[in-house]
Amino acid sequence: MIPNDFIQTLLSRIDIVDVVERYVPLKKSGANLAACCPFHNEKSPSFTVSPTKQFYHCFGCGAHGTAIGFLMEHAGMSFPEAVEQLANQAGLAVPKTTSTTDQRGPRKDELGQLSDLMDAAAVYYKNQLRASPRAIGYLKQRGLTGEIAARFRLGYAPDNWQNLEAAVPDYADKSLEVAGLVVVGDGGKRYDRFRDRIMFPITDQQGRVIAFGGRVLDRGEPKYLNSPETPLFIKGRELYGLHQARLAIRDAGRVIVVEGYMDVVALAQQGIEYVVAALGTATTADHVKKLFRQADRIVFCFDGDAAGQRAAWRALENALPVLSDGKEVAFLFLPEEHDPDSFVRAFGREAFEARLEQATPLSDYFIAELERRHPPATAEGKAALVNEAKPYFESLAGPVLRLMLQKRLAEKVGFREAELSPLLPAARPAPPPSVEPDAFSGVPGRLRGRGRPGRSAAPEPPAQNSAGPYLAIIRYLLQRPSLIAAFAEEPPRFPSREAQALDVLLAHLREHGHATLATGPLVEALQNTEFAAIYRKTSKLIADMGDTGEDEAAFLDALASYRSFEHKFARQLELSHPANDQD
Ligand code: UTP
Ligand code: MN
Repeated sequence: MIPNDFIQTLLSRIDIVDVVERYVPLKKSGANLAACCPFHNEKSPSFTVSPTKQFYHCFGCGAHGTAIGFLMEHAGMSFPEAVEQLANQAGLAVPKTTSTTDQRGPRKDELGQLSDLMDAAAVYYKNQLRASPRAIGYLKQRGLTGEIAARFRLGYAPDNWQNLEAAVPDYADKSLEVAGLVVVGDGGKRYDRFRDRIMFPITDQQGRVIAFGGRVLDRGEPKYLNSPETPLFIKGRELYGLHQARLAIRDAGRVIVVEGYMDVVALAQQGIEYVVAALGTATTADHVKKLFRQADRIVFCFDGDAAGQRAAWRALENALPVLSDGKEVAFLFLPEEHDPDSFVRAFGREAFEARLEQATPLSDYFIAELERRHPPATAEGKAALVNEAKPYFESLAGPVLRLMLQKRLAEKVGFREAELSPLLPAARPAPPPSVEPDAFSGVPGRLRGRGRPGRSAAPEPPAQNSAGPYLAIIRYLLQRPSLIAAFAEEPPRFPSREAQALDVLLAHLREHGHATLATGPLVEALQNTEFAAIYRKTSKLIADMGDTGEDEAAFLDALASYRSFEHKFARQLELSHPANDQD
């Protein structure tokens, strides 16, 4: 763990201008420095760096943060890596907790080590693909060339229990479990997670392998097996294919989001390279934000079946809070029997791109879907339609889009705008933070519950929401970080159920001590709390990892990512409550 006051010292010793300038040439502009934003495509500079406030901010895409955040977002470093690099430059030593260094010696960056393992596995699987006519035959039969397989580093895990013995120096190394490559069975037997599967390496934006998806070659179950969450891989944050697609996305000025690995690869095979997939989870607001940094237009193209329809609506729900004016979202609905892979193979690139041009704008889809659910033929239908529309208006980020939707809705129900407008919730000043905390906890969706946009994750007026107190504290802390002294080890809190669950757990441990409690008894003791289900679910996960559990190094890394998330959230909050906000 890196102590908070060290971060403060570090940030006071370095100058963000020096840090950013190494990557982006800056020009003086009033009190600030400016440049074309490195996080999105633009022709006139809206990216600024403030030497007095020591942060960067883009008025175009909303990118925002400290020197640490810049290194994370721009150079793709992890939180500890960014801190380490800045500390080196400032001539400071990053304080470490003693227990990580004794016995193990100064450990190599744990994430780096996991990353090396994943890479070794990817190389191994790739070589095995070359050696397997059956696996090659499978990919050929799905229309893929060797060139595209190489581009996506596709591989094959042979049908043996301990393939990776040949790929890594020490099969007994616990890191293999931490990386999710090896599973420990009941009798303590260690074996490969992936066997007899086509392997799709999932990479981060820099192209480092962080996880795998493995597909069966026949009709076995499950069709796809994915890496579990690991210190390298946090679901709901990553997008399959983004590394390969980045340049094509910038060139095309748009990006297509599909459901499956195969859709990404098959479209690339046909020359449509600006495609990513949301990795078997719903599209999160975080995904949308990430993509809007690369292009102004996102087209969701999901399977033509009922599940695809549901996925589209969820994408809409998660896009609304980050859809500022100037950004565009559209939906491409395929014939029911098709997914993007089968469609492009059946009809070719031109047909697919022609459909893409005619994709349904989000506003059309929004109104049409509400109308389908509540035909406004009767007074009751109209009332239900307006009622269902309300929460979406609450979460809308763009004022112009809001106005347009309001007009359309008024027409649909035959109201004048002046009549409708008082019925709709007031506009919000700024986009809420993303759904990252859900991704962090692995618990899907802020949309849980009533199938409407949940607002639990957004800054809300204090009277209505428990977020208020958090927001106030964080706001003060952001303005005067030295106030951290008043909170000792208390980190800022994102107002989500998961954050609350963590608080309750912390409080419990502080009160009852933690020395004697094992996981089981502890979960038992928390049985009557509001978050019992979260603890139970987590303890199942722990059980799945086998009886040795995770080691301290992995824990420290998880802690670092968690702190970096809280850190990001705090920055985001600063954005939605600018410094001139009333105190
Ligand atoms: P699909 O079932 O639509 O798969 O799942 P697909 O990509 O079209 O696969 P092919 O064409 O049959 O090979 C879409 C995505 O959902 C996730 C995967 O990420 C998959 O690409 N998924 C699906 C799983 O994680 N596990 C599964 O068992 C199935
Ligand atoms: Mn498919």
